[in-house]
Amino acid sequence: MNRAPYAARKSISEIIAAADGGEVGLRKSLGPFSITALGIGAIIGAGIFVLTGTAAAQYAGPALVLSFVLGGIACAFVGLCYAELAAMIPVSGSSYTYTYATLGELMAWIIGWDLILEYAMGAATVAVGWSGYMRSLLASLGLHLPPVLTQATGSSVQLADGREAVALLNLPAALIVLALTALLILGTRESMRLNNAMVVVKLTVVLLFILIGAAYVTPANWHPFLPANTGEFGHFGWSGVLRGAGVVFFAFIGFDAISTAAQETATPQRDMPIGILASLTICTVLYVLVAGVLTGLVPYPELNVADPIARGVDMIGLGWLSGLIKLGALAGLTTVILVLLYGQARIFLTMARDGLLPPAFARIHPRLQTPWVSQMMIGSVVAVIAAVVPIGILGEMVSIGTLFAFVLVCGAVLHLRRHEPGRVRPFRAPGVPLVPILGMGFSLLLMAGLPLDTWLRLVIWMAVGLAVYALYGRHHSALRHPARQA
Ligand code: ALA
Repeated sequence: MNRAPYAARKSISEIIAAADGGEVGLRKSLGPFSITALGIGAIIGAGIFVLTGTAAAQYAGPALVLSFVLGGIACAFVGLCYAELAAMIPVSGSSYTYTYATLGELMAWIIGWDLILEYAMGAATVAVGWSGYMRSLLASLGLHLPPVLTQATGSSVQLADGREAVALLNLPAALIVLALTALLILGTRESMRLNNAMVVVKLTVVLLFILIGAAYVTPANWHPFLPANTGEFGHFGWSGVLRGAGVVFFAFIGFDAISTAAQETATPQRDMPIGILASLTICTVLYVLVAGVLTGLVPYPELNVADPIARGVDMIGLGWLSGLIKLGALAGLTTVILVLLYGQARIFLTMARDGLLPPAFARIHPRLQTPWVSQMMIGSVVAVIAAVVPIGILGEMVSIGTLFAFVLVCGAVLHLRRHEPGRVRPFRAPGVPLVPILGMGFSLLLMAGLPLDTWLRLVIWMAVGLAVYALYGRHHSALRHPARQA
């Protein structure tokens, strides 16, 4: 008889001991600065540089500022929960590990599978945004890439001579994913060095936009601040603020990616909470300011463009700033892809150690000390997705997948406070149980705002995941078959 039920789980102490003993292969090279930069690296990207415009023009108007406040508050509750768990269980699997420790193997598998939406699909989404900004930067330098090589497979594009054609693939999107994958294989420290430098570039650009833009704001653009609802839910008015928050939620995704670096952090008990909360706070403040300045510079109905921040700079009329903004956006998008690819490999590594994925995903290169096989496989698949799938479909899947993980993380905090009250918590989320309950409530509220199609895709994705578990994980699980464990 198989005695291990699906809800079987290892104790937290066992999980931490196994990780410490088994993963000495990963180098503990990251400190509080790198960790915060990792968070900011993952957070500021397509959300602010691409999606802000649509959200203002179609849903919230200048009240987009409130959408960002709402998104920030929701993430703050969840961030506090992540901080508690990341300090308490510093293992690279992030929410997968927390669920493994609290709700057992099957739920953990579900969350691990779900996290692919956040990390791998997130990286593909942002790579598509990267390709768009790169095209526009090159075009401003007089270099025009062939349109059939810069769009998702099958999209219709217009050639230079005005004829219509069908796109083959989004080549720049695939290339950036492959390049960053190579970097990640070569070394975590090297990758984080590049990340830190690019984070400085993107922060400088965002700050320049806020400071210079503020001087050129036309206050009349802020009236009406909360445009009247058009009669349709989500189109302006308070429901528009909510829908806007659902869209710009994408901009906050990434603070949780910090927790995947727990095993490569010198003092995770101290640095995990610092990194998560500091990066989230810095980004929320910047987002609210950017939204305020942007809607003050450009009348909101005109913001429905792919590069809204660059559009805002055009209103100021400073040519040099426009080029700089594009460079900053590229740097920003690059770091997001980098951190998401990094995080995905760490989560797979933990899942493979638990036997739920093939052992190749846990193989660490002896000299480079990185999970190179896994990183290579992830990079190849993400590159293909980025080359062939359009950005719209990807983006909402990323948001719903992430929110689902958030709900479970808040649940895990409640569960552990109740069942393991005596465990050492280097960081304690304040206001428990209210904070986790609010974190769950806000996440569910934002999920409710997403379209039905996205929900259906989530259900299908999860069904595929359960089939994979039934065919592979169940038969190789370290919990259910301890003898087979590597
Ligand atoms: N928060 C990240 C972005 O905006 C995913 O690109």
